[in-house]
Amino acid sequence: MIGTIKLPKLLIFVAFILNLGRAAIQLIIPEKVAAITSINLGDGNEAVNLAVATCITLFLLAIGEFVGGLVSTYITLIARALISKDFRKVVTKKTFRLRAQDIEAQNPKEFISRITADTEFVGEFLIDLLVNEIPRLYFVISTIIKVSQMGNAYLVLGFILVIPVIVIGSLWSGSVSYNALNRLQASIAKLTAILAEKVNNIETIKAYNKTEDEVSSGYTAIDEMRNAQKKNTWAVAFNTLISNILFIIPMVIIMLMGATQLLNGGVSREQFITYFGLGITYQTYIAAHLTLWVLWKRAQGATKRVRQILHLEDDCGGEIRNLKDDRIEFKNVSFSYGDRTILSDVSFSIEKGSKTAIVGKSGSGKSTILNLIERFYRPEKGSILLGGEDIERYEITSYRSNCAYLPQNAPGFSGKIRDMLIYGTGQSFSDEKLYEILEKVGMKETIEVMGGLDYEVGTNAIRLSGGQRQRLAVARMLLKDSEMVLADECTSALDLAGSIKIASLIDEYAADKTRIIVAHNLATIKDADRIIVIDSGKVSDVGTHEELMKRCAVYQSLLRGEEGNAS
Ligand SMILES: Nc1ncnc2c1ncn2[C@@H]1O[C@H](COP(=O)(O)OP(=O)(O)OP(=O)(O)O)[C@@H](O)[C@H]1O
Ligand SMILES: [Mg+2]
Repeated sequence: MIGTIKLPKLLIFVAFILNLGRAAIQLIIPEKVAAITSINLGDGNEAVNLAVATCITLFLLAIGEFVGGLVSTYITLIARALISKDFRKVVTKKTFRLRAQDIEAQNPKEFISRITADTEFVGEFLIDLLVNEIPRLYFVISTIIKVSQMGNAYLVLGFILVIPVIVIGSLWSGSVSYNALNRLQASIAKLTAILAEKVNNIETIKAYNKTEDEVSSGYTAIDEMRNAQKKNTWAVAFNTLISNILFIIPMVIIMLMGATQLLNGGVSREQFITYFGLGITYQTYIAAHLTLWVLWKRAQGATKRVRQILHLEDDCGGEIRNLKDDRIEFKNVSFSYGDRTILSDVSFSIEKGSKTAIVGKSGSGKSTILNLIERFYRPEKGSILLGGEDIERYEITSYRSNCAYLPQNAPGFSGKIRDMLIYGTGQSFSDEKLYEILEKVGMKETIEVMGGLDYEVGTNAIRLSGGQRQRLAVARMLLKDSEMVLADECTSALDLAGSIKIASLIDEYAADKTRIIVAHNLATIKDADRIIVIDSGKVSDVGTHEELMKRCAVYQSLLRGEEGNAS
């Protein structure tokens, strides 16, 4: 997964070199301090000059360390932000490339927290590993070498004894904070998902006087998050305790080892000062492994969640590019949502250039059939053929660009009317052309009253009525040159006269193209070449309006409106 992230190599390298330099300075400083203490100022000018020179060197080293620290922190933060940005792009791209089926199987809103928070955790870990870890190891190893060169085994033992203390503490506290952070992440994602869904449906909530109930279900999610936070607070407090212990115990061990050796003459005063000075930074560096470990555990949780997305199959495939309008065939197609069978053993064919209607009761599986043709889902059994080839064999982008798909409810995005019209057409059009099309769908005057093509439609095109959105979707189809038309109740929000007008407009536009029309309003499809009647996920009958009127009970009942769904 790391391979998918583009690293800001130069910045990482500069920060790495600066940190390496700082570690080198930190190695020298204790020796310089020890050197000053060994100078006897009473020895004359030379000693005084040496003391002054050592002090200046110390001062310069300290300045170098401070400036290096400042610059490396700044560069590290920039590099981290760049890594997170790049990683977010990778996850965003993948999310939009996933198959609709896979996105729907999860909570799409939880994807958002993966793009925002999880990507940050991975960046945080990576940058600490790449920028800080080697300088830390360099300091730790160099210190052990320096101390062992002092020729006293107890001093080396002191340095070695502190390692298990720190490693055990790191492992322990890392796993505590990993679990707590996972819980916190999950509860934040859940709260975000709940609030986003409920706020989106605020009108339904108000219409059914459910405001107070929704407030309390929001409170429940907030309380769950608070509980997770409480556990996380304990984990943070526990980590602080461990850090303090990790600071004190090693310091005591190092001090005791050095002091006993100084008292029994095992080391000189200068050696003791160097040893103790190195020891303080040594333990700080080793303790920083604790942070790396926590970052690693946190990134592990985040990568596990992100990997679930990155490992899913892309909505791609197929090699045939020259898609033509041709015969469509469903061969023994079965499909389930989870373990609920929706279509079972469905077979029918749709002739090239014909108008085919799919009718049936609400929930019988009509939209599912169009979703399968659009390749949002794959059949569980059987196959769907276009011109004798399995539709999976067609390259997906060219396949979809040749199907004009009018989805049920005509959803929209925020933007201007002109954006809505040209979305997916891949072309730009003159205002005259756009108004000409708007006139055809009966929207020219409405848009002019709204203030023209730059009218902002709002989030989810909320500032348009359902019927207006449907008319605009048809207008967009008229602008796009597609081989086939898949229309799913595309006039359900219009009155009968409006429905018939739009239906005849589609017929006129696509007179020689294959049209598959799902309609509740049977008046708009009576003239279809063939009508496929779906009942409880099975093909009940296929025929013309006249044939079905005579022989198909389901069709007759739809026609009479007995099932309450057909007009
Ligand atoms: N994403 C989904 N996940 C699970 N079940 C689904 C999903 N979409 C639809 N269903 C179920 O599949 C069945 C068929 O749905 P479909 O949308 O195909 O019906 P339809 O014939 O188009 O109905 P309508 O006329 O009301 O639009 C329904 O029972 C519905 O509950
Ligand atoms: Mg439907």
